[in-house]
Amino acid sequence: MLTRLLDQDRAHLAFTVDGLAAEARQGDTLLTAMLADGLDHIRTSEFGDGRRAGFCWMGACQDCWVLVEGRGVVRACTTLVEPGMKVVRR
Ligand code: FES
Repeated sequence: MLTRLLDQDRAHLAFTVDGLAAEARQGDTLLTAMLADGLDHIRTSEFGDGRRAGFCWMGACQDCWVLVEGRGVVRACTTLVEPGMKVVRR
C-alpha cells in the first residue's frame, strides 16, 4: 500500500505481524512499517465498515489500534517499531 521512495538506507528491523515475518526501517511507526511491508490493512473495524489502514495518521482517531505482545493495545501510527515486536491485528 505504501512504497518507500526516499531514505532507503536506514537500518532494517525484524518484527512479526500475526506470526509472520515483517520488516521495518529504524524510525518507522508500526503503521508505516506494516503498510510499506505489503499489508493492505492493519485491522478490521468492529463496526462493520471493513478493513482499515488508519485514518488520521497522527494519534487522534484511534482507527489504528493493534495488539503488541507485552504492551497491550497501541496506536500503530504513533508507536515506533522495535526489533522483535510481535503485533497481532484484531
Ligand atoms: S490513524 Fe488515527 S490514531 Fe492512528
